[in-house]
Amino acid sequence: MSCETLPGFRACYPENGTRRSYIFEHWRTAAESFNFQEYDAPVLEPLELYIEKSGEEIVGQLFHFEDRGGRSVALRPEMTPSLARLVGAKANSLKRPIKWFNIGEHYRYERPQKGRLRAFYQFNADILGEAGALADAELIALLVQTLESFGLGAGDFKVRLSDRDLWLLLLAAEGMDAENSATVLGIIDKMERNSREKTLELLAGVLGDSAEAFMETVASVVAIRGFAELEQYFKALPLEGALLETAKSRLADWRVLLDALEHSGAASFVEIDLGIVRGLAYYTGFVFEAFEATGEGRALAGGGRYDDLVGKLCGQSMPAVGFAMGDVTLGDLLEKKSLLEVAEPTPDFVLVIGGPAERAQALKDAASLRAAGYCVEYPLKEVAFGKQFKDANQRGARFAIIYGSEELESGISKVRDLEAGKETDYPRADLVELAESLFGEGLQ
Ligand code: HAM
Repeated sequence: MSCETLPGFRACYPENGTRRSYIFEHWRTAAESFNFQEYDAPVLEPLELYIEKSGEEIVGQLFHFEDRGGRSVALRPEMTPSLARLVGAKANSLKRPIKWFNIGEHYRYERPQKGRLRAFYQFNADILGEAGALADAELIALLVQTLESFGLGAGDFKVRLSDRDLWLLLLAAEGMDAENSATVLGIIDKMERNSREKTLELLAGVLGDSAEAFMETVASVVAIRGFAELEQYFKALPLEGALLETAKSRLADWRVLLDALEHSGAASFVEIDLGIVRGLAYYTGFVFEAFEATGEGRALAGGGRYDDLVGKLCGQSMPAVGFAMGDVTLGDLLEKKSLLEVAEPTPDFVLVIGGPAERAQALKDAASLRAAGYCVEYPLKEVAFGKQFKDANQRGARFAIIYGSEELESGISKVRDLEAGKETDYPRADLVELAESLFGEGLQ
């Protein structure tokens, strides 16, 4: 029997648990400050939930098997299809906009590498039931605030903002039908990872001889960084009729989004970058990914609009937008910036117990201090006084309370401040009151 975990899975020792909780707390606090409500969904789902809905790439990475009842099931690789099903099932009774978040573990059979594991946590935040660009802005603002809450600044990360609608307009202007457009967007999505030759070869499979010229078009579009430039580019496209109207209203959506980002303080983190297309099959409009500012490494977070998914799953159409942030790349970045130096929790009190006769009082006091919210530790067997003090210091306890026969007989509580190395006797009274004064005003 091997002592090792499976490749891409992590054992969580307490010191890792402290860091994990620290990350989760920041995620939860940020979501709650935007008034998102927490939900959850099963870890194991029917395989078909992901087939077609999530797209080829994720389906190829599923942990899936047949359960004992002959059902094809999969460990969730992402949250979005489960969320769409949950919301779709109660679409009529939920008050809109629906603003929900989740913190949970996800599983993808990827090649374990820097920033990528087979089991990882995601913070998902989504708004359903609101089609306007202010919902997209709200999520990008939440994404930015979450990362800022860890102490990261504009020099540390950026959000790359793109738009599948603008891409579809551009591809329509090039005369591409819906099927080819989807294939070409998939190729553009992988462009940064593939060589130029590989991209050209893939494009030639769809566009034939015009692939090379199209590559030039793509290169000029993905180089756009400013909105004025973006607007100018799309205004100059040879669009007519309905496509022209769509382009106009889309650029108006962009203005709403960028204005809201400006006002909420998120704009300085956001960069227009149509190089982002997103690999998942369900995205429909604005899409975005957060990266380290240097551009190194895998994404910290990714998301976008998916207005058709709820309808496809449940028949009830509902606009939706959201993102997920992973704990792996985020943890690496925080560590690199020395922002994950989280202190291990330490006890407030260690009870130093003279012997079996004194233990009864110590247990009683421990119970009332713990019930009042203090962290209390004591030895689980008879140990010499000296060793108990040494242990208390090693555990980083703030105070020791000494339970010797003398203290009990004379009705005092002897408290040692382990930081100051100073001991004080208090008349035995309500220990919780004493604890409050010790933490409030210090040792008298
Ligand atoms: P995603 O881009 O596949 O989007 O994943 C979002 C984030 O999860 C990534 O940016 C990364 O931080 C983390 N992540 C993904 N795969 C791994 C892995 N193998 N190891 C470590 N971290 C990973 C989604 O999952 C969408 N469902 C997000 C979404 C929510 N869209 C709308 N709402």
